Amino acid sequence: MIEAPHDAPSDAVVFFGATGDLARKQIFPALYRLVAEQDLSVPIIGVAKQGWTVEQLRGRAEESLKEHGIKPDSDAARRLMQLLRYVDGDYTDPATFTTLRHTLDPARRPLHYLAVPPSLFATVAGGLAKSHCADGARLVVEKPFGHDRASARALDTVLRRYFSEENIFRIDHYLGKEPVQNILYSRFANPVFEPIWNRAYVQSIQITMAEDFGVEDRGRFYDETGAIRDVLQNHLLQVLAVLTMDPPTGEENDAERDQRANLLKAVRPLDPAHVVRGQYDGYHTVPGVRAGSTVETFVAVRLEIESWRWAGVPIYIRAGKRLPLTASEVLVIFKRPPRETFGEIVPVFSGHVRFTLSPDVSVGLGVRVKVPGERMVGRDTELILTRQPGEDRPPYQRLLGDAMRGVGELFTRSDLVDAQWRIVDPVLNNVCPLYRYTGGSWGPAEAAQMIGQDGPWHDPNLGGQG
Ligand code: BG6
Repeated sequence: MIEAPHDAPSDAVVFFGATGDLARKQIFPALYRLVAEQDLSVPIIGVAKQGWTVEQLRGRAEESLKEHGIKPDSDAARRLMQLLRYVDGDYTDPATFTTLRHTLDPARRPLHYLAVPPSLFATVAGGLAKSHCADGARLVVEKPFGHDRASARALDTVLRRYFSEENIFRIDHYLGKEPVQNILYSRFANPVFEPIWNRAYVQSIQITMAEDFGVEDRGRFYDETGAIRDVLQNHLLQVLAVLTMDPPTGEENDAERDQRANLLKAVRPLDPAHVVRGQYDGYHTVPGVRAGSTVETFVAVRLEIESWRWAGVPIYIRAGKRLPLTASEVLVIFKRPPRETFGEIVPVFSGHVRFTLSPDVSVGLGVRVKVPGERMVGRDTELILTRQPGEDRPPYQRLLGDAMRGVGELFTRSDLVDAQWRIVDPVLNNVCPLYRYTGGSWGPAEAAQMIGQDGPWHDPNLGGQG
């Protein structure tokens, strides 16, 4: 077989788990947009074990497009349908991969997307290799990448047997999100932030990811995962890395990833004394959840970064399901002046930079301003530097397009994944007590006790200002 050049774009897309939830929610709309906006015209092969035909897969794709407000009779949708192929078969059966190899011909640089449970990653990767479908190929894997540090390392060893690191694309869709890119851009396109972005000026950092919905139809998956593995280990640590890393240097492709990796390697592993886990009342009634499950649907942690820039700055992160609203934000809280010149008692949040990640994408600067009049008293205000409505360009379109071109910057890397597991490993597996909370509240009261004097927690509100 003739090897395709290393940076050649992928000439076929194969997605395993074609009949599943992720394909319906994310992959079909992303493929549609790639066809519509970037003229994607390579064969797209869905693989699953459902006994389906290609017509049924097209039907599923149409449903998915409709659910995303896309007309299935549009020109791009029709082109997408024509590109679709389907291979049915068990992932443990070599015949499935032989059929795939025939369907792939003459592709030389296919992209294989594993939208399947992580327990199948190794089986599928092995099947691809033995059938030569892995030759010259790229591999995209979904999170969770392992369920702790040891299993992630073991999985990495297996995948690396068949694919080189530069051809493995580990998705953390938060890295492809506009608001996360916005943090990066705001920090490094404005020299005004850099001098104050350190322990001399920053009092503390808070990151909140609140979701007002519960686990609903994902009980089985979630009950093996929990909030620490589901969002803290990946999405929220990546947000922290983008917020606190050093500026990328040089022109190397991996400059930004290197800095994220350096930052994550400097985060001290979590201390169970600084972790509060919660579970919302009623979680046990969700189908797929085990009776007596002690899986957390809420987590709040205190972290520290052991670097000259951040030593001693407490970082608080919390995430939870069934909280009062769905909103995510990052708050960098500045120290007060060394003396209160005007003798005022001022609230803790009077100086800050706030990045909201959802529902709006904004950057705000919190300052104190004087109230007109003879007295030297002030009030807090927030100057909104920019605010746009939530993303119109979903991250999967961007990520899939990047992976097809072999651009890995917005994916995690083996060393990043390892550094992230290193941080959460000490608090996995019920090491920390579990507290109950009422759905619609901000989690267990213990989270407020944990933040103590560094608090209170700042609760996002949908007006944007707090
Ligand atoms: C997923 C988690 O990775 O991210 C979900 O599995 C979570 O539990 C979701 O709801 C949040 O992503 P987004 O893009 O909706 O903020």
